[in-house]
Amino acid sequence: MYYLRHFNKKTFFTHLSSLLCNKKEVLKFDNNDSHEHETYHQFHVCYLDGPSVQKFLPKSAEGRAHKNYCRSIFHVIKNQFNSMRSNKEDSIYSTMDLGQAFTIYRYHFSKYTKHVVATILFSADANGIFVNWIVVTQTKFTMDTYGTSGNNETFRSCGIATFLILLVQMRLALFGWKTDVYLQVNQGSNSVQFYEKLGFQKAASNKKEEMPTTWEPFVNKKKGSMYIKFVDDKMNAEFPSKSHLHLYKLSDFLLKPTNPNKASVAKIVPLVPSDKNAVMIAWPFDMKGTNVDGAAEDLYIFGLRGFKFRNEQIFMRKTLPNTRQGAIRSYQDEDVKVSQYISWKEDLAKDHIAWLSTGDIGLSIQ
Ligand SMILES: CC(C)(COP(=O)(O)OP(=O)(O)OC[C@H]1O[C@@H](n2cnc3c(N)ncnc32)[C@H](O)[C@@H]1OP(=O)(O)O)[C@@H](O)C(=O)NCCC(=O)NCCS
Repeated sequence: MYYLRHFNKKTFFTHLSSLLCNKKEVLKFDNNDSHEHETYHQFHVCYLDGPSVQKFLPKSAEGRAHKNYCRSIFHVIKNQFNSMRSNKEDSIYSTMDLGQAFTIYRYHFSKYTKHVVATILFSADANGIFVNWIVVTQTKFTMDTYGTSGNNETFRSCGIATFLILLVQMRLALFGWKTDVYLQVNQGSNSVQFYEKLGFQKAASNKKEEMPTTWEPFVNKKKGSMYIKFVDDKMNAEFPSKSHLHLYKLSDFLLKPTNPNKASVAKIVPLVPSDKNAVMIAWPFDMKGTNVDGAAEDLYIFGLRGFKFRNEQIFMRKTLPNTRQGAIRSYQDEDVKVSQYISWKEDLAKDHIAWLSTGDIGLSIQ
Protein backbone atom coordinates (compact mmCIF):
# COMPACT_ATOMS: atom_id res chain seq x y z
CA MET A 1 0.00 0.00 0.00
CA TYR A 2 2.99 2.25 0.49
CA TYR A 3 3.27 2.81 -3.25
CA LEU A 4 -0.40 3.76 -3.53
CA ARG A 5 -0.57 6.00 -0.48
CA HIS A 6 -0.90 9.15 -2.62
CA PHE A 7 -4.49 8.20 -3.43
CA ASN A 8 -5.80 8.77 0.07
CA LYS A 9 -4.60 11.63 2.21
CA LYS A 10 -6.40 10.66 5.43
CA THR A 11 -3.94 10.49 8.33
CA PHE A 12 -4.82 6.99 9.48
CA PHE A 13 -4.63 5.61 5.93
CA THR A 14 -1.22 7.24 5.46
CA HIS A 15 -0.12 5.68 8.73
CA LEU A 16 -1.27 2.20 7.67
CA SER A 17 0.22 2.42 4.22
CA SER A 18 3.58 3.58 5.54
CA LEU A 19 4.11 0.73 7.99
CA LEU A 20 7.23 -1.28 7.39
CA CYS A 21 7.89 -4.97 7.78
CA ASN A 22 11.60 -4.67 7.89
CA LYS A 23 12.87 -2.55 10.75
CA LYS A 24 16.14 -1.90 8.97
CA GLU A 25 14.36 -0.25 6.09
CA VAL A 26 13.97 3.51 6.36
CA LEU A 27 11.35 5.24 4.27
CA LYS A 28 11.72 8.71 2.92
CA PHE A 29 8.53 10.70 3.20
CA ASP A 30 7.55 13.59 0.99
CA ASN A 31 9.07 16.10 3.40
CA ASN A 32 12.31 14.07 3.32
CA ASP A 33 12.12 13.17 6.99
CA SER A 34 13.20 9.64 7.82
CA HIS A 35 10.84 7.48 9.85
CA GLU A 36 11.22 4.03 11.27
CA HIS A 37 8.20 2.11 12.52
CA GLU A 38 8.33 -0.44 15.29
CA THR A 39 6.23 -3.04 13.59
CA TYR A 40 6.33 -6.31 11.77
CA HIS A 41 3.10 -5.55 9.93
CA GLN A 42 2.58 -4.36 6.44
CA PHE A 43 -0.53 -3.80 4.35
CA HIS A 44 -0.61 -5.28 0.88
CA VAL A 45 -2.98 -4.76 -2.04
CA CYS A 46 -3.72 -7.91 -3.96
CA TYR A 47 -5.53 -8.32 -7.30
CA LEU A 48 -7.41 -11.47 -8.32
CA ASP A 49 -8.54 -12.22 -11.85
CA GLY A 50 -11.05 -15.06 -11.38
CA PRO A 51 -11.11 -16.55 -14.91
CA SER A 52 -7.33 -16.78 -15.24
CA VAL A 53 -6.85 -18.77 -12.00
CA GLN A 54 -9.43 -21.41 -12.96
CA LYS A 55 -6.64 -23.31 -14.70
CA PHE A 56 -4.96 -24.16 -11.35
CA LEU A 57 -5.40 -27.79 -10.40
CA PRO A 58 -7.15 -28.04 -6.99
CA LYS A 59 -4.34 -30.06 -5.43
CA SER A 60 -1.45 -27.97 -6.80
CA ALA A 61 0.24 -25.38 -4.55
CA GLU A 62 -1.36 -22.57 -6.58
CA GLY A 63 -4.76 -24.28 -6.46
CA ARG A 64 -4.60 -24.62 -2.67
CA ALA A 65 -3.41 -21.02 -2.24
CA HIS A 66 -6.27 -19.82 -4.41
CA LYS A 67 -8.80 -21.85 -2.43
CA ASN A 68 -7.52 -20.42 0.88
CA TYR A 69 -7.58 -16.92 -0.57
CA CYS A 70 -11.23 -17.29 -1.67
CA ARG A 71 -12.21 -18.84 1.66
CA SER A 72 -10.66 -15.97 3.65
CA ILE A 73 -12.47 -13.39 1.50
CA PHE A 74 -15.73 -15.28 1.87
CA HIS A 75 -15.49 -15.31 5.69
CA VAL A 76 -14.60 -11.64 5.96
CA ILE A 77 -17.60 -10.68 3.80
CA LYS A 78 -19.94 -13.00 5.69
CA ASN A 79 -18.79 -11.68 9.08
CA GLN A 80 -19.73 -8.10 8.18
CA PHE A 81 -23.43 -8.95 7.90
CA ASN A 82 -25.81 -10.16 10.61
CA SER A 83 -27.54 -12.49 8.20
CA MET A 84 -27.13 -13.43 4.60
CA ARG A 85 -29.47 -15.10 2.13
CA SER A 86 -28.01 -18.42 0.95
CA ASN A 87 -28.01 -17.37 -2.71
CA LYS A 88 -25.89 -14.38 -1.66
CA GLU A 89 -23.28 -16.68 -0.14
CA ASP A 90 -23.20 -18.48 -3.44
CA SER A 91 -22.79 -15.18 -5.28
CA ILE A 92 -19.54 -14.45 -3.42
CA TYR A 93 -17.86 -17.51 -4.90
CA SER A 94 -19.41 -16.90 -8.34
CA THR A 95 -17.98 -13.38 -8.41
CA MET A 96 -14.56 -14.67 -7.46
CA ASP A 97 -14.73 -17.30 -10.24
CA LEU A 98 -16.06 -15.10 -13.01
CA GLY A 99 -15.06 -11.61 -11.93
CA GLN A 100 -12.18 -9.75 -10.29
CA ALA A 101 -11.23 -8.59 -6.80
CA PHE A 102 -8.93 -6.16 -5.04
CA THR A 103 -8.12 -7.15 -1.47
CA ILE A 104 -6.13 -5.42 1.26
CA TYR A 105 -4.22 -7.76 3.53
CA ARG A 106 -2.36 -7.15 6.70
CA TYR A 107 0.72 -9.27 6.47
CA HIS A 108 2.92 -10.31 9.42
CA PHE A 109 6.55 -10.31 8.44
CA SER A 110 7.94 -12.89 10.86
CA LYS A 111 4.89 -15.12 11.34
CA TYR A 112 4.03 -15.08 7.62
CA THR A 113 0.33 -14.74 8.39
CA LYS A 114 -2.18 -12.81 6.32
CA HIS A 115 -5.53 -11.34 7.30
CA VAL A 116 -8.07 -9.70 5.03
CA VAL A 117 -8.80 -6.09 6.01
CA ALA A 118 -11.03 -5.12 3.09
CA THR A 119 -12.15 -6.38 -0.27
CA ILE A 120 -14.11 -5.38 -3.36
CA LEU A 121 -15.52 -8.04 -5.70
CA PHE A 122 -16.58 -6.80 -9.11
CA SER A 123 -17.15 -7.60 -12.76
CA ALA A 124 -16.33 -5.15 -15.51
CA ASP A 125 -16.13 -4.60 -19.23
CA ALA A 126 -15.91 -1.68 -21.64
CA ASN A 127 -19.34 -0.47 -20.48
CA GLY A 128 -18.53 -0.08 -16.81
CA ILE A 129 -18.19 -1.79 -13.44
CA PHE A 130 -20.65 -3.80 -11.40
CA VAL A 131 -19.68 -4.18 -7.73
CA ASN A 132 -21.11 -7.34 -6.19
CA TRP A 133 -19.51 -6.93 -2.76
CA ILE A 134 -17.46 -4.35 -0.89
CA VAL A 135 -16.57 -4.67 2.78
CA VAL A 136 -14.12 -3.28 5.28
CA THR A 137 -13.57 -5.29 8.45
CA GLN A 138 -14.75 -3.89 11.78
CA THR A 139 -11.66 -5.06 13.65
CA LYS A 140 -9.50 -2.45 15.31
CA PHE A 141 -5.89 -1.49 14.90
CA THR A 142 -4.95 -2.29 18.50
CA MET A 143 -1.61 -2.21 20.29
CA ASP A 144 -2.17 -5.84 21.34
CA THR A 145 -1.92 -6.91 17.73
CA TYR A 146 0.13 -4.18 16.12
CA GLY A 147 2.57 -3.18 18.86
CA THR A 148 3.50 0.45 19.35
CA SER A 149 1.97 1.54 16.05
CA GLY A 150 -1.51 0.40 17.17
CA ASN A 151 -3.89 3.25 18.03
CA ASN A 152 -7.19 1.44 18.64
CA GLU A 153 -8.84 3.01 15.58
CA THR A 154 -11.14 0.95 13.40
CA PHE A 155 -10.29 0.29 9.78
CA ARG A 156 -13.59 1.86 8.80
CA SER A 157 -14.10 5.51 7.84
CA CYS A 158 -10.45 6.10 6.99
CA GLY A 159 -11.14 5.93 3.27
CA ILE A 160 -10.32 2.28 2.56
CA ALA A 161 -13.59 1.52 0.71
CA THR A 162 -13.26 4.73 -1.32
CA PHE A 163 -9.69 3.72 -2.17
CA LEU A 164 -10.85 0.27 -3.35
CA ILE A 165 -13.51 1.73 -5.66
CA LEU A 166 -10.90 4.13 -7.03
CA LEU A 167 -8.49 1.24 -7.73
CA VAL A 168 -11.18 -0.47 -9.80
CA GLN A 169 -11.92 2.75 -11.69
CA MET A 170 -8.23 3.32 -12.37
CA ARG A 171 -7.84 -0.20 -13.73
CA LEU A 172 -10.72 0.35 -16.17
CA ALA A 173 -9.47 3.82 -17.11
CA LEU A 174 -6.15 2.20 -18.02
CA PHE A 175 -7.95 0.11 -20.63
CA GLY A 176 -9.86 3.13 -21.90
CA TRP A 177 -13.09 1.57 -20.60
CA LYS A 178 -15.99 3.39 -18.95
CA THR A 179 -15.51 3.98 -15.23
CA ASP A 180 -19.21 4.15 -14.27
CA VAL A 181 -19.86 2.06 -11.16
CA TYR A 182 -23.16 0.23 -10.59
CA LEU A 183 -24.21 -1.61 -7.43
CA GLN A 184 -27.24 -2.41 -5.31
CA VAL A 185 -27.59 -0.86 -1.90
CA ASN A 186 -29.57 -2.22 1.03
CA GLN A 187 -32.10 0.55 1.74
CA GLY A 188 -32.23 -0.17 5.46
CA SER A 189 -28.47 -0.07 5.96
CA ASN A 190 -26.46 3.01 6.91
CA SER A 191 -24.07 2.24 4.05
CA VAL A 192 -26.56 4.30 1.95
CA GLN A 193 -24.86 7.36 3.46
CA PHE A 194 -21.46 6.10 2.42
CA TYR A 195 -22.52 5.68 -1.21
CA GLU A 196 -24.29 9.03 -1.31
CA LYS A 197 -21.19 10.73 0.10
CA LEU A 198 -19.15 9.29 -2.76
CA GLY A 199 -21.62 10.65 -5.32
CA PHE A 200 -23.61 7.50 -6.14
CA GLN A 201 -27.13 8.28 -7.35
CA LYS A 202 -30.19 6.15 -6.87
CA ALA A 203 -31.40 4.78 -10.22
CA ALA A 204 -34.91 5.78 -11.33
CA SER A 205 -36.02 2.17 -10.91
CA ASN A 206 -34.55 -1.06 -9.56
CA LYS A 207 -34.60 -2.73 -12.98
CA LYS A 208 -31.69 -4.35 -14.77
CA GLU A 209 -32.62 -2.23 -17.82
CA GLU A 210 -31.05 0.74 -15.98
CA MET A 211 -27.66 -0.90 -16.57
CA PRO A 212 -25.81 -1.25 -19.92
CA THR A 213 -27.91 -3.50 -22.19
CA THR A 214 -24.90 -5.68 -23.06
CA TRP A 215 -24.86 -6.93 -19.43
CA GLU A 216 -28.26 -8.60 -19.74
CA PRO A 217 -26.84 -12.11 -20.49
CA PHE A 218 -24.71 -12.00 -17.31
CA VAL A 219 -27.43 -11.13 -14.80
CA ASN A 220 -27.66 -13.97 -12.25
CA LYS A 221 -25.92 -16.35 -14.68
CA LYS A 222 -22.96 -18.37 -13.55
CA LYS A 223 -21.22 -18.46 -16.89
CA GLY A 224 -19.96 -15.76 -19.21
CA SER A 225 -17.32 -13.08 -19.04
CA MET A 226 -19.05 -11.23 -16.17
CA TYR A 227 -21.15 -12.10 -13.16
CA ILE A 228 -23.87 -9.75 -11.92
CA LYS A 229 -25.86 -10.66 -8.85
CA PHE A 230 -29.04 -8.67 -9.25
CA VAL A 231 -32.03 -8.64 -6.89
CA ASP A 232 -35.10 -7.37 -8.72
CA ASP A 233 -38.27 -6.08 -7.02
CA LYS A 234 -39.95 -9.49 -7.33
CA MET A 235 -37.17 -11.04 -5.23
CA ASN A 236 -37.18 -8.01 -2.92
CA ALA A 237 -40.88 -8.59 -2.21
CA GLU A 238 -40.02 -11.83 -0.36
CA PHE A 239 -38.15 -9.84 2.30
CA PRO A 240 -39.00 -6.99 4.72
CA SER A 241 -38.92 -3.61 2.98
CA LYS A 242 -35.99 -2.46 5.17
CA SER A 243 -33.69 -4.96 3.49
CA HIS A 244 -34.76 -4.16 -0.07
CA LEU A 245 -31.90 -3.64 -2.49
CA HIS A 246 -31.95 -0.77 -4.99
CA LEU A 247 -29.65 0.01 -7.91
CA TYR A 248 -27.25 2.96 -7.61
CA LYS A 249 -24.81 4.45 -10.12
CA LEU A 250 -21.63 6.50 -9.80
CA SER A 251 -20.74 8.45 -12.95
CA ASP A 252 -17.94 10.46 -11.38
CA PHE A 253 -14.25 9.51 -11.38
CA LEU A 254 -13.14 9.43 -7.73
CA LEU A 255 -9.62 10.72 -8.28
CA LYS A 256 -9.74 14.48 -8.12
CA PRO A 257 -6.93 17.02 -8.53
CA THR A 258 -5.78 17.95 -5.03
CA ASN A 259 -5.59 21.62 -5.93
CA PRO A 260 -7.94 22.42 -8.83
CA ASN A 261 -6.93 26.09 -8.76
CA LYS A 262 -3.32 25.34 -9.54
CA ALA A 263 -2.58 26.50 -13.11
CA SER A 264 -0.77 23.27 -14.05
CA VAL A 265 -3.77 21.17 -13.00
CA ALA A 266 -6.39 23.41 -14.57
CA LYS A 267 -4.67 23.39 -17.96
CA ILE A 268 -5.06 19.87 -19.29
CA VAL A 269 -2.58 18.97 -22.01
CA PRO A 270 -3.62 15.93 -24.05
CA LEU A 271 -1.01 13.19 -23.83
CA VAL A 272 -1.83 11.67 -27.22
CA PRO A 273 -1.36 14.05 -30.20
CA SER A 274 -4.52 14.49 -32.26
CA ASP A 275 -2.74 13.70 -35.56
CA LYS A 276 -2.73 9.88 -35.95
CA ASN A 277 0.50 10.07 -38.02
CA ALA A 278 2.39 12.15 -35.48
CA VAL A 279 5.25 10.52 -33.59
CA MET A 280 4.19 9.38 -30.12
CA ILE A 281 7.46 7.84 -28.95
CA ALA A 282 10.86 8.21 -30.59
CA TRP A 283 13.16 5.35 -29.68
CA PRO A 284 15.81 5.43 -28.36
CA PHE A 285 14.95 8.43 -26.25
CA ASP A 286 17.41 11.20 -26.82
CA MET A 287 18.23 11.17 -23.15
CA LYS A 288 20.71 9.64 -20.80
CA GLY A 289 19.47 6.94 -18.44
CA THR A 290 19.85 9.18 -15.43
CA ASN A 291 17.80 11.92 -17.12
CA VAL A 292 15.03 9.43 -17.84
CA ASP A 293 15.14 8.34 -14.21
CA GLY A 294 14.82 11.95 -13.08
CA ALA A 295 11.85 12.55 -15.36
CA ALA A 296 10.15 9.36 -14.13
CA GLU A 297 10.76 10.04 -10.44
CA ASP A 298 7.12 10.94 -9.73
CA LEU A 299 5.59 8.05 -11.66
CA TYR A 300 4.22 5.44 -9.32
CA ILE A 301 5.82 2.43 -10.98
CA PHE A 302 8.77 3.75 -12.98
CA GLY A 303 9.89 5.85 -10.05
CA LEU A 304 10.75 2.65 -8.15
CA ARG A 305 14.38 1.69 -7.66
CA GLY A 306 14.00 -1.57 -9.60
CA PHE A 307 13.24 0.40 -12.75
CA LYS A 308 16.25 2.69 -12.57
CA PHE A 309 19.07 2.53 -15.07
CA ARG A 310 22.28 0.94 -13.85
CA ASN A 311 24.33 3.77 -15.29
CA GLU A 312 24.11 6.20 -18.12
CA GLN A 313 26.79 4.50 -20.17
CA ILE A 314 24.92 1.37 -21.13
CA PHE A 315 21.35 2.36 -21.85
CA MET A 316 19.64 5.00 -23.92
CA ARG A 317 22.69 5.68 -26.02
CA LYS A 318 22.16 6.62 -29.64
CA THR A 319 25.81 6.70 -30.65
CA LEU A 320 28.79 4.73 -29.41
CA PRO A 321 30.98 6.56 -26.86
CA ASN A 322 34.60 7.41 -27.64
CA THR A 323 35.91 5.09 -24.97
CA ARG A 324 34.19 1.69 -25.03
CA GLN A 325 32.94 0.50 -21.67
CA GLY A 326 31.76 -3.09 -21.52
CA ALA A 327 29.25 -4.45 -24.00
CA ILE A 328 27.82 -1.26 -25.41
CA ARG A 329 25.53 -1.42 -28.40
CA SER A 330 23.81 1.24 -30.38
CA TYR A 331 20.08 1.18 -30.95
CA GLN A 332 18.20 1.33 -34.17
CA ASP A 333 16.00 4.41 -34.45
CA GLU A 334 12.32 3.59 -34.35
CA ASP A 335 9.43 6.06 -34.35
CA VAL A 336 6.18 4.90 -32.82
CA LYS A 337 3.27 6.66 -34.51
CA VAL A 338 0.13 7.64 -32.63
CA SER A 339 -1.91 5.04 -34.59
CA GLN A 340 0.52 2.28 -33.54
CA TYR A 341 0.43 3.39 -29.91
CA ILE A 342 -3.38 3.39 -29.92
CA SER A 343 -3.52 -0.11 -31.41
CA TRP A 344 -1.24 -1.41 -28.60
CA LYS A 345 -3.34 0.32 -25.99
CA GLU A 346 -6.60 -1.11 -27.35
CA ASP A 347 -5.02 -4.54 -27.56
CA LEU A 348 -4.24 -4.39 -23.81
CA ALA A 349 -7.95 -4.53 -23.13
CA LYS A 350 -8.51 -7.41 -25.54
CA ASP A 351 -6.29 -10.20 -26.83
CA HIS A 352 -2.72 -9.10 -25.94
CA ILE A 353 -1.47 -10.08 -29.39
CA ALA A 354 -0.46 -6.74 -30.84
CA TRP A 355 3.25 -7.31 -30.33
CA LEU A 356 3.42 -9.71 -33.21
CA SER A 357 4.17 -7.63 -36.27
CA THR A 358 7.74 -7.41 -37.53
CA GLY A 359 8.10 -3.74 -36.63
CA ASP A 360 6.90 -4.32 -33.09
CA ILE A 361 9.27 -7.21 -32.55
CA GLY A 362 12.10 -5.13 -33.96
CA LEU A 363 11.39 -2.50 -31.34
CA SER A 364 10.80 -4.87 -28.44
CA ILE A 365 14.03 -6.84 -28.82
CA GLN A 366 16.24 -3.76 -28.62
C1 LIG B 1 -19.88 0.58 3.83
C2 LIG B 1 -18.40 0.32 4.05
C3 LIG B 1 -17.87 -0.53 2.89
C4 LIG B 1 -17.67 1.68 4.06
O1 LIG B 1 -16.27 1.46 4.20
P1 LIG B 1 -15.27 2.57 4.79
O2 LIG B 1 -13.86 2.16 4.46
O3 LIG B 1 -15.58 2.82 6.19
O4 LIG B 1 -15.67 3.83 3.92
P2 LIG B 1 -14.76 5.16 3.68
O5 LIG B 1 -13.86 5.34 4.83
O6 LIG B 1 -14.16 5.11 2.33
O7 LIG B 1 -15.92 6.25 3.71
C5 LIG B 1 -15.99 7.42 2.91
C6 LIG B 1 -16.88 8.42 3.61
O8 LIG B 1 -18.16 7.84 3.90
C7 LIG B 1 -18.41 7.89 5.32
N1 LIG B 1 -19.06 6.64 5.73
C8 LIG B 1 -18.60 5.39 5.59
N2 LIG B 1 -19.48 4.52 6.11
C9 LIG B 1 -20.50 5.26 6.59
C10 LIG B 1 -21.72 4.94 7.27
N3 LIG B 1 -22.03 3.68 7.53
N4 LIG B 1 -22.54 5.96 7.62
C11 LIG B 1 -22.23 7.25 7.35
N5 LIG B 1 -21.08 7.62 6.72
C12 LIG B 1 -20.25 6.63 6.36
C13 LIG B 1 -17.03 8.00 5.94
O9 LIG B 1 -17.09 8.56 7.22
C14 LIG B 1 -16.32 8.86 4.94
O10 LIG B 1 -16.69 10.21 5.14
P3 LIG B 1 -15.61 11.43 5.11
O11 LIG B 1 -14.91 11.33 3.79
O12 LIG B 1 -16.43 12.64 5.27
O13 LIG B 1 -14.69 11.16 6.25
C15 LIG B 1 -18.12 -0.36 5.40
O14 LIG B 1 -18.74 0.35 6.41
C16 LIG B 1 -18.61 -1.80 5.46
O15 LIG B 1 -17.87 -2.72 5.14
N6 LIG B 1 -19.86 -2.02 5.92
C17 LIG B 1 -20.44 -3.37 6.04
C18 LIG B 1 -20.63 -4.03 4.73
C19 LIG B 1 -21.49 -3.22 3.79
O16 LIG B 1 -22.52 -2.68 4.17
N7 LIG B 1 -21.07 -3.18 2.51
C20 LIG B 1 -21.81 -2.51 1.49
C21 LIG B 1 -22.77 -3.42 0.81
S1 LIG B 1 -22.00 -4.80 0.02
